[in-house]
Formats: sequence, C-alpha cells, structure tokens
Amino acid sequence: MQIITDPGQMQAIAEKLRLNRQLVGVVLTMGALHEGHLSLVKIARKSAGIVILTIFVNPRQFGPTEDLHRYPRPLEQDIALAKSADIDYLFVPEAGSIYPEHYQTTLECGVLAERFEGEQRPGHFNGVATVVTKLFNITKPHTAIFGEKDAQQLAVIRQLVADLNMDITIVAAPTVREENGLAVSSRNTYLSSQERSAAGIIYQGICHAEKRIAAQEYNLQAITAEIKEMISSTPGLNPAYVCFVNETTFEPVETAEKGKVYRLLLAVHAGNVRLIDNGKIRT
Ligand code: PAJ
Repeated sequence: MQIITDPGQMQAIAEKLRLNRQLVGVVLTMGALHEGHLSLVKIARKSAGIVILTIFVNPRQFGPTEDLHRYPRPLEQDIALAKSADIDYLFVPEAGSIYPEHYQTTLECGVLAERFEGEQRPGHFNGVATVVTKLFNITKPHTAIFGEKDAQQLAVIRQLVADLNMDITIVAAPTVREENGLAVSSRNTYLSSQERSAAGIIYQGICHAEKRIAAQEYNLQAITAEIKEMISSTPGLNPAYVCFVNETTFEPVETAEKGKVYRLLLAVHAGNVRLIDNGKIRT
C-alpha cells in the first residue's frame, strides 16, 4: 500500500492507472476507520482492480459549534488497518492542500440537502458535495462506494453525480451494526458505555417499524409516534426526528401504499452526541 499526501501526485497516479486501463474504486472517509469503512473497501475490491481509500476530516462539512476539533484522528491505527485491508493507495491530504489560502468555490446542493440532516446542520451537504467532488477529481474513480448508514448523504451524492454528469458509478453498502444493533460510527467513541448499550433501541425502532408494516399498519405517523416513545422512554436518549420518507426525494410520507419502498430516518441525541440511522422499509 502506498501512502500519498499530495493531491497532485495522487491525481497523476490516478491518471496513469486509467491510461493503463485499470478499474479504480474509491472509498472516501474521515478516518477513525472501523468495520463499516472496511466493509466498503471489500465491496470496492469486488469490482475494482485498484482500490483507493481517502482519509480527510473535511472542515467545510462541520458547523461552527460541531466536533471538528475533537473528531478522532488515530492516524497510525488507521494506516495499520488500511494496510491489512487490501488497499492499493491511501490518500491522506493535509487540510491546507485541499483548501489552500485563496480557495473560493463551494458547491450548492438543492432542496434534498435542506431537509433532515441539512436542516439540523446548515451548509453540511454543500461541504460534503464540495469535498466529494474534489476527491473524485483527484482520484478519478470509475466506482465509489458509500454507506447506506448515511442515507441522505448517499442520496445527495447520487444527485450530485447525476446533475454534474460525473462518469462514476455510485454503489450503496449496507449498514454494519454492533451486536446490539447500533450502527457502527466513528462518533460512537463519544458515548459512555451506558449510552452505547441504550442506543441499541434505535435499531429496535427500525425493527418495530418493519413488524408494524408487515402487520399492514400503513399509518406511518402512528408508527413513528410509537418509535419516538420507545426512544424517549429510554434513559439518556431523546429523538430529534423519526420520519418515513420517499427513497429518492426524501419528502416525508404519512400514509404508506402497498408495494412501495420507503426509508425510515432517525436522529437521536444521546447526551451531546447525535446519532443517525435509517432502514429501508418495504410495504
Ligand atoms: P465517514 O463518516 O468517515 O464515512 C465514510 C463512509 O463510510 C461513508 O460512505 C459512510 O456512509 C460509510 N459508513 C460509516 N459508517 C458505516 C456503517 N456502520 N456501515 C456502512 N457504512 C458506513 O461520510 C463521511 O465520512 C464524509 O461525509 C465523507 C463522505 C468522507 C466526505 O467528507
């Protein structure tokens, strides 16, 4: 595995790989690598001859009061994990090389990026879309793998790629979970052990929705009220939002129709940590 820090050098390597007819797959991360990230690498490996993993804690997707400065950065550990994960290139740029002094351009996403996470975190998805575009231009992938764990981010990126005619196949990877169902996340390290075990209720909420829909309950507001109650009656947890949405537009849906697929979105506060999760629900 080769470690690259300079965007120009990474871009030159990527260009050479393309000229040599190599299929390039990329996994973009902010580091603090875990099983979720590694599952994306495995999926990339299935279709791509060359796998590039990027680690960059993107300052432009953090709000002014968010956790940019305390976001975990265990670089040595990440390098060791990347080495054992069958990666060809690890791209770890410095913030100053991605956003040099006179940097100006930011992409502006549309309405999809203004709901849910976008509403809670203004400008977040513009920051994500900007860095993802830059990292795509630097690594020139044919395929890029993103986790369904961040379903709205995945939808925003699909929209970005379609809107800007990017010739990149976006592949969705299923959510990797801890034993109690909590979605694996770099931010789980902020949780106390009590919060971590209590947060298993979020996944139980998704399972509850699946059961209620299977039992023909199509009043989605009734189901979300039950899930909110499950969460708020768990000590230390508070729901921020629980909502069924259209898979593509993320518009809220109140009543389900038979034979459709919806996405159930959840955001939950555990102390001062915000956890997000979601499930694909078929009627
Ligand atoms: P990060 O939170 O590090 O996540 C990197 C990728 O791993 C994303 O595609 C995310 O959806 C996926 N992922 C995280 N937890 C997962 C889990 N439990 N199971 C499956 N996949 C999981 O998302 C970002 O970084 C950034 O916004 C980024 C896209 C890198 C842009 O800065």
